[in-house]
Formats: sequence, structure tokens, C-alpha cells
Amino acid sequence: MSKTTAAITAVGKYLPEYILTNQILETMVDTNDEWITTRTGIKERRILKEDGKGSSFMAIKAAEDLIAKSNLDPKEIDLVIVASATPDMQAASTAAFVAYKIGATNAFSFDVDSACSSFLYGISIASSFIESGKYKKIVLIGSDKNSSMIDYEDRATCIIFGDGAGAVLFEPNEEGLGVQDEYLRTNGEGREFLQVKKGGSVYPLKKGEVFGKEEGYFVKQEGRTVFKNAVFNMADVSDRIMKRNNLSKDQVWLAAHQANKRIIDATAERMELDGSKVMVNIDKYGNTTSATLPLLLNDYENQLHKGDHIIFAAFGGGFSWGAIYLKWAYNS
Ligand code: UT7
Repeated sequence: MSKTTAAITAVGKYLPEYILTNQILETMVDTNDEWITTRTGIKERRILKEDGKGSSFMAIKAAEDLIAKSNLDPKEIDLVIVASATPDMQAASTAAFVAYKIGATNAFSFDVDSACSSFLYGISIASSFIESGKYKKIVLIGSDKNSSMIDYEDRATCIIFGDGAGAVLFEPNEEGLGVQDEYLRTNGEGREFLQVKKGGSVYPLKKGEVFGKEEGYFVKQEGRTVFKNAVFNMADVSDRIMKRNNLSKDQVWLAAHQANKRIIDATAERMELDGSKVMVNIDKYGNTTSATLPLLLNDYENQLHKGDHIIFAAFGGGFSWGAIYLKWAYNS
């Protein structure tokens, strides 16, 4: 009997309309297009401007896009997972609201948060549920409203992040397509180098404290340390998983977390990949945290063929990182 694997069978996305360009950022902080482009590869990013709309708004839109494209009946969905580092609220979960709004009335749902590795870890969870035979249709959504935790007076962070969402559908596959292998890691020693300190249980919001005046409400990162760790670890796991599965450099696509074009290039170089096999859209969206990987799949869907080998790789706060090898399951 053939083993059941977990294949991605549809994708969807949502990007807010407002485009924050490098030129606009030049009017906000002491920066310039040349610095941002050469140091990060980013030209513009999308920002969800409307008050009262958060990660669930974008997640719902991305899931609805997927449902419309795939003719999926929401009632058949077994599980909705929302990967996000910017949940709607401290409680309740974003996924519960998303599942309700998309009509997934027969599903259960939960959130996954491991900073920029949230979606990657979500792939591992979704595929395990499918492989076990327990569930047949799982919608995994990566959605982040990073603008909700960015200080737009801090040039070190405001140029990097953007908002957006992407969704994928996982279904059982009997042809050996879908998720093949994974290599996932964390190291909590890295927590201090990339964090939003306040608003959680260690430093909860206090009565009378004025948001923005106090330190700790926004993303702070020690860029160089995160950069160094990202380059080493993302390249390392991607290379390992390629070798472990006897994949040659001409065979694979790299779908790497879009944090910095230089990190993506370093990973591709270590794998000796040709640039044409490296998925890149950081120039358009910046770092959308949990949404980078599904947004890549949306943008490259037309170039992918059944049986193509994709290596997903991510590195993020925590530190958290890893790589997953998947065989693409359809021609679009
Ligand atoms: O997704 C989660 C994981 N996150 C990452 O992987 C991000 C990893 N880190 C990075 O991508 C890079 O470290 C950054 C893009 C954040 C920064 O690039 P860098 O090449 O590491 O620059 P740096 O922080 O070492 O700063 C170099 C210089 C500094 O000036 P001095 O001290 O050399 O005079 C900064 O003050 O660039 C300055 N700088 C800027 N200049 C113009 C920092 N930000 C800016 C800016 N515009 N926006």
C-alpha cells in the first residue's frame, strides 16, 4: 500500500492596496532608496491602513481567494490553521474567527506563532495531520499585519516589514507528491535579538501607560546578529535537506523566507542554485513574516509543474528556523 503524503492542492492570497514605497519612506525617516535596495532588496511593501482591521481580515481574504479558485466547499474543511506573529487579539485565537467567517463550520482551528518560521512550522503540523489519515482538508494561512508593531520613526525596522496574507490547501496524495522531509530547529538564546517586549504576560500593558512613549511596544532587532544567524542557519538546513534527499542543484526551487535579499542569495549560493530557480518577491512586499512563503507560491504558481521539487526555508525570531522539502502536486 502506498504511503499517504500531504500535498498542496490550491493557493490564495491577499495584499492590502496601500503601497509604501522607498520614496515615501525617505520622507518619513533618515533613509534612502539606494540604502534600502542594496541592503535589503526591498522597493515597496503593502500596508493595511484601515482601523479595526487586523490579520484575520487578510487571512479571510486569502482563504476566500483560495476557495474561489479551487471550488472548495468550506463545509468540507477539517482544520484551519492561522500562522501569525500578529494575532488579532491576545484572546481569542485569530483562527477561530477566520474559520467562522469563511464558513468552515465543520472544522476546528488554532493559531501557530513562531515569528517568521510560523508558516514553515504550520506546514509540518498540517502535513502530519494529513499523513496520519485523521483529516483530509486543511487550510493553512500565513497572515501578518506587521505594521501594527512597527515604529515608523525607527529606520532600522520600518523599511523592512510589510503586511499581507497567503493561504494553501493540504490534501492527501497517493502518488508520492507533497511534503517529503523536514529539518526544523529553535534556539531560545536568540530571543533577545528580535522581539516585541511588551504586551505579553511578562510585561503586560499597565493602566496609564502611554503606548509609544514607553520602550518595548514595537519590534526591536539587532539586525547584524539576526542577519549572521539567518545566513548561516538557513543556508545550512537548506543544503542539508537537499543532500539528504539526493537532490541536485538543477532540480530544486528555493522558496525562502523573504527577510533580506542578501540572506536569500547566500542560501541559494550555498545550494549552488541558478538564480532562475530562486523565488523572490521581497522587492514588492518586504518581509511579511508568516505570509512570505505562501505569497511566493501564489506568485510562482504559473511556473510550477507537477513533480517539481521545492525547498522551503525560513529563519526568524526565537530564534526559529528550518527547511521543508515538498514535491509540487499540480499544473495550473
Ligand atoms: O524575518 C526575521 C528575521 N530578520 C532578518 O533576517 C533580518 C536580518 N537583518 C537584516 O536584514 C539587516 O541586518 C538589516 C537590513 C536590518 C540592516 O542591514 P545591515 O547591513 O545589517 O546594516 P546595519 O544594521 O549594520 O547598519 C549599517 C549602517 C548603520 O550606520 P553606521 O552605524 O554604520 O553609521 C545604520 O545606522 O546603516 C545605518 N542604517 C540605515 N541607513 C539608512 C540602518 N538603517 C538604515 C536605513 N537607512 N533604513
